[in-house]
Amino acid sequence: MAKRQKFHTRLCDVLGIEYPVIQAGMGGFADPPLVIGVSEAGGLGTLGAATYTADGLIEAIKEIRKGTKKPFAIDILLPDSLEDMAGVDKEKLREYIPEEYKAYEKELRKKFGVPLDYHTHRQVDMWTMEGTKKMLQVCLDNRVPVIAAGLGRLGWVMPECKKRGIKTIGIGSNVKMALKHVEDKVDVIVAQGYEAGGHTGNIGTLAVVPQIVDAVKPIPVAAAGGVADGRGLAAALSLGAEGVWCGSMFLLTPEATFTEGQKDRVIAATERDAVITKGLSGKTMRQLRTEITRTWDQGPLPPLGWPLHLILMEDIIDYCYDSKDQKKYDEMLVTPCSQATRLLNRRRTTKQVIDDMVKEATQIIERDIPKRLILT
Ligand SMILES: Cc1cc2nc3c(=O)[nH]c(=O)nc-3n(C[C@H](O)[C@H](O)[C@H](O)COP(=O)(O)O)c2cc1C
Repeated sequence: MAKRQKFHTRLCDVLGIEYPVIQAGMGGFADPPLVIGVSEAGGLGTLGAATYTADGLIEAIKEIRKGTKKPFAIDILLPDSLEDMAGVDKEKLREYIPEEYKAYEKELRKKFGVPLDYHTHRQVDMWTMEGTKKMLQVCLDNRVPVIAAGLGRLGWVMPECKKRGIKTIGIGSNVKMALKHVEDKVDVIVAQGYEAGGHTGNIGTLAVVPQIVDAVKPIPVAAAGGVADGRGLAAALSLGAEGVWCGSMFLLTPEATFTEGQKDRVIAATERDAVITKGLSGKTMRQLRTEITRTWDQGPLPPLGWPLHLILMEDIIDYCYDSKDQKKYDEMLVTPCSQATRLLNRRRTTKQVIDDMVKEATQIIERDIPKRLILT
């Protein structure tokens, strides 16, 4: 067997991985098979825990550990502090939804063919303070190798993580947020640009990564947002990052929790189809345009804020998955995706995706740049 080339940075040493490639947390799309695939291929696989209950998370961690002995991460959506969550309860929150929105949701059910009496069966624990604490406790009790904070701060759990040798990742889409992670003493900071799929900030990757690198030195930075091949990895290293945090790049793998229809839509998408919308969660989120996003982006009512909007829309969103008529509803499935859509043009295994990325980046750094550069 051909010997694999070593492509190593300080970030690899901190996280105990072979290649500086972290698969980003993607709630509902990054489950144990993808985590195992990425970690086994030499990157860091990350479970998107937003769609889990604490009990479900215990089972998922067991499954991951059965599939790989290598490090992996759990990505949890956190508040900035525990106080921020006090009193948050999904059923109580529902009472804050204005009546005209409840009436409009009924109209949308009719428009999209969602029965009025359909209610989602999906149970998640992230809505309440106890639920979030329970999820974190599961991570701590099971000494998961890495915890990532998809939103918010890890400060209040850092002492427990340090005690157990758990590494931590914080995500920032601007210097101000990145500096909060420095204060919390996280081990790795993700600098994420506007191009990213999912919830995203508003500064471009090329601009935000070096600014965060400068601000958080010497903490290693992983660049994110539109990084989808070896060129992106080489560029990230040029910007001072020591690795990458990629979500969209893994969506076309068999290990991702994505329907074949969703994969076809990503492959067919142009760079203009991955739009920012508040129509799903009430927070700015990049995803492929659908009838649902169009309806809210052009509709009579502005989206409610987070999390009320998601609570309002969750039955309609989940019906698209639950319906037996998958062909009809595939077009409406929530499909977060970066602006690098045309680079996401073929189905490959997770191992192939990582091997291709590392091989291409190596070639660019060793051969292509020196060949193109005219230094006189
Ligand atoms: C399908 C998908 C789902 C995502 N879900 C989450 C999530 O649940 N929690 C989170 O912190 N970020 C989520 N994100 C954002 C990713 O963690 C990551 O920051 C982003 O994908 C990086 O940009 P890229 O898509 O250009 O690689 C999601 C992104 C995608 C593409």
